[in-house]
Parts: sequence; structure tokens; C-alpha cells
Amino acid sequence: MFDTVKYLIGSAGASGFGSKSTAEEVTDSVPDLRSVTAIITGATSGIGYETARVLAMRGARLILPARNIKAAEDTRSRICSEFPGSEVLVFPLELSSLGSVSAFAARFLDLDLPLHLLINNAGKFSHQHGVSEDGVEMTFATNYLGHFLLTELLLERMVETAKATGMQARIVNVSSGIHGWFSGNWTNYLDLITRNKIPYDPTQAYALSKLANVLYTKELAQRLKQMQADVTVNCVHPGIVRTRLTREREGLLTDLAFFFLSKFLKTIPQAAATTCYVATSPGLAGVSGKYFADCNEASPSPLASDPREAVAPAELLGVRHGPIRTRDDPLTRFRGDKKEDSRAYSTLTLPVPGN
Ligand SMILES: NC(=O)c1ccc[n+]([C@@H]2O[C@H](COP(=O)([O-])OP(=O)(O)OC[C@H]3O[C@@H](n4cnc5c(N)ncnc54)[C@H](OP(=O)(O)O)[C@@H]3O)[C@@H](O)[C@H]2O)c1
Repeated sequence: MFDTVKYLIGSAGASGFGSKSTAEEVTDSVPDLRSVTAIITGATSGIGYETARVLAMRGARLILPARNIKAAEDTRSRICSEFPGSEVLVFPLELSSLGSVSAFAARFLDLDLPLHLLINNAGKFSHQHGVSEDGVEMTFATNYLGHFLLTELLLERMVETAKATGMQARIVNVSSGIHGWFSGNWTNYLDLITRNKIPYDPTQAYALSKLANVLYTKELAQRLKQMQADVTVNCVHPGIVRTRLTREREGLLTDLAFFFLSKFLKTIPQAAATTCYVATSPGLAGVSGKYFADCNEASPSPLASDPREAVAPAELLGVRHGPIRTRDDPLTRFRGDKKEDSRAYSTLTLPVPGN
């Protein structure tokens, strides 16, 4: 009750920010980002666009991988006309395809650019059951698996960047409060929905993918700590905001749902605030493996907080498929012939337990 009132009035938490803070406000006093290179997925609309816009405003060089290149070019033009001199590069990336993810990572690594920020923001809410080209349920493949592989492929560059520049590198995974709506055995559930063995429930599929984002954040934070890498990883719930996420269900019912929720809705600048805060706040130096909402640390669901569960998402690919190797050796995992790696990922078969 008290939390709801705090949310509604936008009262500031320990960070000095709250539910009504905007991305511009939370980055107002951060040091200049002109030496920072950031990759942001899903920047063609909604929260990702605003995140990209505000990071460009603060001077960051942006890499925008997108499946819709025309929309990404449009994002680039809008940002560059608002902030002349911005450096924005656009590349193709279809997150539901492991082959596309590894091709993008190889292209980016070939540029020999540093990488300080990786913002895994893209997401989908799919109302229909679908399976990715790699044989994985589509929502999970897009929201979790693609970002998982992207992060693993770019990790070494982030570790090197932090070492070379003395500037901590940060990964921000955009999850959702809905992750808490999933309970039970998630690997089993993933197997069942992938094989279409139970009726497809879009909300549960979405919740599961967002739970995996939180679990992976926690597991990766542990690994980075063990490696003594100056790279942090945290995840965020942006809040509820009307974006193109509901594009498959536009109409009167969705309008009504948003009308009834209107008191709880954020604006897009408010929804991008937590991501921008976690990505840039000097006060979060060294903070890793945490979950944030309304620009403050928050508690994820009990399942997402269970350390035994956190191992599973990382092992989903790592253990079952040779080319990705084991999670014990993340830094050497992707060395070698990038073309060969890329072929290996594109021929993966169903990477879920029980098959
Ligand atoms: N809106 C909310 O209330 C809310 C609440 C909690 C969490 N979130 C999370 O916030 C993040 C941003 O969502 P949003 O609300 O801003 O939605 P949005 O406006 O629909 O933006 C989603 C972005 O993800 C991209 N994307 C989707 N599927 C992709 C794929 N297969 N490959 C590459 N890019 C893909 C979209 O690109 P295209 O232009 O090609 O479609 C778009 O740029 C998501 O992770 C979402 O789950 C949103």
C-alpha cells in the first residue's frame, strides 16, 4: 500500500529519484559520456529509442543493432538532427536468430571499438505461439536467448575496454516486473511451450523470458566477480508504459486496459529512466547482480532470487552445445575463427532440457 502511494506520487527513494524521474533528469549530473561506446538493442521505438536519445544527448557513441534497418536509420537521423555531431552506427540484428546474433557480434568486434555499455533492451510480447529458426519458443528466443548469446560474445571486449580505459563497463538487462508472475519449473515449462505440448499462454511465456533475464543477470554477476572483471551487470523493470510492445493487440480492449491502468502508467521518458540511471550513475560503481525499479534497487521474485535457479539459463546453451563451450571459461570461449563460430550457432538445434 505504502509502495503504491510512493509510486503514484513519485516520491524519491535512496537514489534521489523515483517513478516520475525521467531519463534526462537521472543523467543530468553524470560525467560527460563522450568517451563511452554503447550498444543498445531495440532502439527503434519506445523505451530503447528514448534510452538511445538520452545517451546520445550526453555524448555517447551509439551502436544500434536492429532487425528493421530502415527504422534504425530513422532513429539515427532523428538523434543526429536533435544532437548534431552524434556518432550513431546501425547494424542488422535479428535477436531471435543465434546466427544473426553471432554475425552482428563478429561485425562489431571487427570494428575494434571499445565497449563500455551493453543495453539489452529489445523485447517482444507474442500473442501467437511460434518457434525460432533455432527451434526455441519465440518470446524466449528473442527476449532471453539472443541477448544471452550477444552478451557472452561481447563480454571479452567489455572486460578489455574496462582494463584499457580504467572505466567500469556495464551491462543492463531490461526485464519486467512480470517476471514474478512465473512460478514453477521454468526449464520444464520452456520445453513444453517450445514443443507446443500445452496451450500457449502469452503472458506466462513473456514472464518466463523476463525471469530468465533476471536469473542470468545474477549468474553473470557472480562469474564477473570471480573473474575480477571491472564489468557490472544489473537488470531493470522500466515500469508500465504504452509502447509498440502491445502492437499485436491494438484495439478497443487494449485501449480500455490502458485507460484503467492510466494512473499507473509512466511516460516513455520516465520508463527509460531506470535503464539510464543504472547505465550511468556514478553512485552505482561496483554494484552488480541487482534488480532495479523506479531508479532504485528493488527485490525480484523469490524464484528469481534463488541462486540454484540462476545457473540454468547460462547452461542452457553452454553445456548442451560444444561450440559455446562451458561457462567456466567465458573469456576463451569465443576466441578463434569467428566465421566458424558463426556457422556453428546457426546450425544449433533445440537447446532446451528434455530433448
Ligand atoms: N512497455 C512496457 O510497459 C514494458 C514493461 C516492462 C518491460 N518492458 C520491456 O522494455 C523493453 C522495451 O520495450 P518497449 O515497451 O519499448 O517496446 P517496443 O516499443 O515494442 O520496442 C521493442 C524494441 O525491440 C525490438 N525488437 C523486437 N523483437 C526484435 C527482434 N527479434 N530482433 C531485434 N529487435 C527486436 C523492436 O524492433 P522493431 O522495430 O523491429 O519491432 C523495438 O525496437 C522490452 O524488453 C520490454 O519487454 C516494457
